[in-house]
Amino acid sequence: MHTNKMDLQFPKDFIWGTATSAYQIEGAWNEDGKGLSILDTFYKQGGRSYKDQTGEIANDHYHLMKEDVRLMKEIGLKAYRFSISWSRVMPTGEGSVNPKGMDFYSRLIDELLDAGIQPIPTLFHYDLPQALHEKGGWTNRETAKFFGEYAEKMIRVYGDRVSWWITHNEPFVTALMGYFTGELAPGIQDPFAAFAAVHTLLLSHGEAVQAIRANQKNAQIGIALNLSPVHPATGSELDAQAALRFDGLMNRMFLEPILLGTYPADILFLLKEFLPEIRVGDLDLIHQPIGFLGLNYYTRTVVTYDPEVPLINASQTKPKTDDYSMMWEIYPKGIYELIDRVWKDYHPSKIFVTENGVPVPDDVDFDGKIRDARRIQYLENHLEQVHLAINQSIPVIGYLVWSLMDNFEWALGYRMRFGLVYTDFDTQKRTLKESAKWYSRLIQANAMEIIRK
Ligand code: FCB
Repeated sequence: MHTNKMDLQFPKDFIWGTATSAYQIEGAWNEDGKGLSILDTFYKQGGRSYKDQTGEIANDHYHLMKEDVRLMKEIGLKAYRFSISWSRVMPTGEGSVNPKGMDFYSRLIDELLDAGIQPIPTLFHYDLPQALHEKGGWTNRETAKFFGEYAEKMIRVYGDRVSWWITHNEPFVTALMGYFTGELAPGIQDPFAAFAAVHTLLLSHGEAVQAIRANQKNAQIGIALNLSPVHPATGSELDAQAALRFDGLMNRMFLEPILLGTYPADILFLLKEFLPEIRVGDLDLIHQPIGFLGLNYYTRTVVTYDPEVPLINASQTKPKTDDYSMMWEIYPKGIYELIDRVWKDYHPSKIFVTENGVPVPDDVDFDGKIRDARRIQYLENHLEQVHLAINQSIPVIGYLVWSLMDNFEWALGYRMRFGLVYTDFDTQKRTLKESAKWYSRLIQANAMEIIRK
């Protein structure tokens, strides 16, 4: 059989890294003056996650941070994306800062810089301060102002050492899963609240970009959107229309205002009963110049017409394929399709893959190794597609694996292992999986060897 060995070279200065978020790894949920976030209260309620697991201890990263940065250095990461817990640094979300909380991120940033790793903080990854939630949370326009003030405080303190910033992680998830389906905190099921939250989140992105830019001219600012190519399940016209609506809600409702300064007309029409107040000037605020668009990609979305689903008359179906992970269909071509489409339709200045990864039922073998060949295969297949986009001169500047280490995967708890590093949650022992070693070699070579049959 004819095999073909290829060496895919990545651009010089390509940013190789991993991503995590505060609640999923830090633990120390009530230490050193941290205020409560909606995640603390939500997972405490029970019935919200697998075996009622919570992030109260998680990876205990708050205490093991130095060791974790050592692991990152061992892998050879160039960048590390983490999130700042708003209520750790500002217990009520507004007013004065909590010095001990500020100190934690300050030490993390210093450790990273010492290890030659670029810190990329995300300002918001679902953990709204509970005190702000009680004032209406993301349904309250004022929260956008508070977010801008929070961003300003962070840039003032960390801006001397940090130049890459991400405002939000997946506002679609914050708004739609937090306020529409209720699967995530704060667990509300109300379309009025959900679309008010979308608008406030977008406004808050604009506020934060302005605050950061005003304080740091050379800041590289972006936002991480969970985007997915939406495919109709069949060739029928009804499915095609359903896919278009789903795409509007999931992708265009965020891409358009941020990158073009408009809301998609079909979405405004679809949501007309539920729209919040959109004031003159709002879209200008949302549409700030940004340095990069962050793209989180896991899978494609296959959609069918479903009159039972209110509002969008569309639901997701499982595609008929043999290629599944524990959570989703594995569909590497989708990442190329997405990058290509975002580039052609919205022309962001740069594209950054801010999350990509896969949950695999990893186990420790008799010799202590974790042979996660399926993860390596997943990452390799996706990177091949990213490389294809780069080859076509689309400016993809970096790639971050979700996640550095196994952690708390929301409703699915600790059962879903996404890490390059294996976490034993009883002992907090971390072990590099085979994928971490593979990633390490790849980063060193800045190239990936693939063999095609
Ligand atoms: C993304 C989230 C991240 C993690 C991965 C698997 O949607 O940003 O926190 O849960 O999915």
